[in-house]
Amino acid sequence: MKDLKNTELLKHGSFINGQWQTSDDCFPVVNPATNEVISKVAEATASQVEQAITAANTAQPLWQEKTSYERAAKLQRWAALINEHKDDLALIMTREQGKTLADAGGEIAYGKSFIDWFAEEAKRVYGDTISKHADNKMISVIKQPVGVVAAITPWNFPTAMITRKAAAALAAGCTIVIKPASETPYSALALAVLAKQAGIPDGVFNIVVGKDSRSIGEQLTQHPLVKKFTFTGSTKVGKLLNKQCAESIKKVSLELGGNAPFIVYDDADISLAVKALVDAKLRNCGQTCISPNRIYLHRPIADAFKKQLVASLEKVTQGNGEAAESDVACLIHQEAAENVHKLVESAKADGGKILIGGLSQSPDSSFFPLTVIDNVTHSSDITLCEIFGPVFSLITFDEPEQAIEQANDTEFGLASYVFSQNINRLQQTTTALDYGMIGVNDTAISHPIAPFGGIKHSGFGKEGSKYGLDDYLIIKAITYGF
Ligand code: SIN
Repeated sequence: MKDLKNTELLKHGSFINGQWQTSDDCFPVVNPATNEVISKVAEATASQVEQAITAANTAQPLWQEKTSYERAAKLQRWAALINEHKDDLALIMTREQGKTLADAGGEIAYGKSFIDWFAEEAKRVYGDTISKHADNKMISVIKQPVGVVAAITPWNFPTAMITRKAAAALAAGCTIVIKPASETPYSALALAVLAKQAGIPDGVFNIVVGKDSRSIGEQLTQHPLVKKFTFTGSTKVGKLLNKQCAESIKKVSLELGGNAPFIVYDDADISLAVKALVDAKLRNCGQTCISPNRIYLHRPIADAFKKQLVASLEKVTQGNGEAAESDVACLIHQEAAENVHKLVESAKADGGKILIGGLSQSPDSSFFPLTVIDNVTHSSDITLCEIFGPVFSLITFDEPEQAIEQANDTEFGLASYVFSQNINRLQQTTTALDYGMIGVNDTAISHPIAPFGGIKHSGFGKEGSKYGLDDYLIIKAITYGF
């Protein structure tokens, strides 16, 4: 990547205790749009992972001792440097992840916004004093950092899912060891370059990179010095990691899979709903956990909605994320495109009707066309699974109760959306939906001030917002007798 303005941002091995590490074993990082190898990164050895945890443990008391203002100042400097290098960071992300440059730029700003937010929240960790329960007694409640945090982060948001966790951890006074996805290590390592430049002390922020996620995951989840584990990724892997944490009783938070219903009632503003749906669905080519996955259309407006949706998608340009004209790009790899293809084929076999897109045969690249499939059934695989691709799967309903019942009939409970102009209907629907997040006439639900997280098999714990800090703090009750 010689065309970066600052080639120093590109590092090829783990960042441990402020030092760059190498190893004999390297793995390639591939540009999903072209299938070209960008470069190779050194696989972290078991002893390097151990070093990272030990360094984080050594640095932790010193970092905790700093005032919240000192920690905030370091975080603010880090955020300023991210802003300064935003074009390079976006280009690195587009090359290794595939998303459009506009999407990548948006993610850099989104990722930075968590650092800005938590730098301020660092100063707002409050305890309580409880009214006395006996003469000469007093109870005070204080909050303290939980200790060393380990995080495993996904490839769909290679920067923001790191900053959402790390900024909260560092603001709370914790240190952190992060294992980013092996598809997108360069974005993570570039963040480490800037963290060092920002003066975040050695050992406070560590990145271990590797393709052997199972072994590194086992080390991070089973290590007794790690006090808190946080993961964003699939429900299947999250369950396994949660089990691995059990032996050492860690504090855990999990942001897992979703299967978001998107309900449009007959009194909705259809243009608004179509625009919000397209914006949310095409963000990162449908590869977000909160992407609308099942679109429930009330019969009276279903035809008008479909017409507007198809017309709107016909204006979208798909291509290499680096090209200025691309509105939407490719998926993370060919295997991902194959998975989406299988879901579309199974929906067709169940009676689904393609309105646009689809593929007549298995994809031969990571590109999957924008696809609208109508007449989808509730029991079809495409309804039951997270699609993670640019496919709009449409189901028509007659009664609101039917839409709510089907929307809730899933093990997942991350995001959901409802569109209507009727306040009573909205109130009833939002009360009934079993989801951690609900967008009402809106799909832009991700923001550092809003608690992000699911229920049921979508995980537990909140990220961002005032609640996001609590996941990195412990509560201590001190009873005074005098
Ligand atoms: C995710 O897909 O896991 C995160 C999406 C977001 O933060 O908006």
